[in-house]
Amino acid sequence: MSSSDLGPTIEAAVVLPLPPQFTKQKRTLKQKICKFTLLLVSVLTLFALVFLASVSFSNYNQCDRTCKLKFCSSADCFLSKMASKRSVRKCTCSNGAVLNRKLERVNTTAIDAALVEYCVCNSVECATVQTNSAPNVFLHKGPCGHCSNPADFQIYKETALTLTKSSTKAAVASIFSKQKAINQMTKIGLSDKCSECWVGNMQNTLVHCFWTCAFGSRASCENGHLSKCLQCDEDYSGKYFRDCAGMTRRRAGITSDICRQNGEIVDK
Ligand SMILES: *[C@@H]1O[C@H](CO)[C@@H](O)[C@H](O)[C@H]1NC(C)=O
Repeated sequence: MSSSDLGPTIEAAVVLPLPPQFTKQKRTLKQKICKFTLLLVSVLTLFALVFLASVSFSNYNQCDRTCKLKFCSSADCFLSKMASKRSVRKCTCSNGAVLNRKLERVNTTAIDAALVEYCVCNSVECATVQTNSAPNVFLHKGPCGHCSNPADFQIYKETALTLTKSSTKAAVASIFSKQKAINQMTKIGLSDKCSECWVGNMQNTLVHCFWTCAFGSRASCENGHLSKCLQCDEDYSGKYFRDCAGMTRRRAGITSDICRQNGEIVDK
């Protein structure tokens, strides 16, 4: 290859540059866009960081729930106010007890397997009965709570395949406003008190599983198992939810879109 072969091409490139003004203008426009994009990205990143930090450091009434889990012995207690003070990692409950703010993981399958109570309803009210053999008719296994009534049972049944999705949406709302999230749950049809238990669960999960759920799958079922986010929710919030709501779908024998292992759903 002789140098003259490349000659004309190079020459053309050299000889035919864009008019200087035009190149200058084009470059500034490009630079402007670049600068603007950089600014936009930095502002968005800053907002995202501030948002993530504020969620991470928000209390979301965690001490209230942590104290209730330790000291409440009735579902009613879960919807009352329990004054509690918070430091970074500790809670001081109204009775003076100091607890770790963060809860421990709990195996809810083991809790449910060990239950000897049933929530039984007549036409007027529902009540907890202690028995080792299942009564002929019962609403659900385990003690009654704020979701233990025929109306909420009906909603659980009707929304069996969508409730997890709707509640995930409400959980996002609960980042900003507890009341907004409660409204979303009551709109589905759940009673006010039952909705409050659901949202307590959501905010509990927000505190314990935020990173897992914000950056991982929130699917209800993955290869026959719970996603990491739902498992985290189960382990950290399952006990709170059971103590407050009483009726879970599994305890009521309702198959949902959440995949459960054999024997986890009560036979009715
Ligand atoms: C939870 O408890 C159940 C029933 O007791 C048991 O089969 C299961 O292995 C436990 N799961 C974990 C993660 O420990």
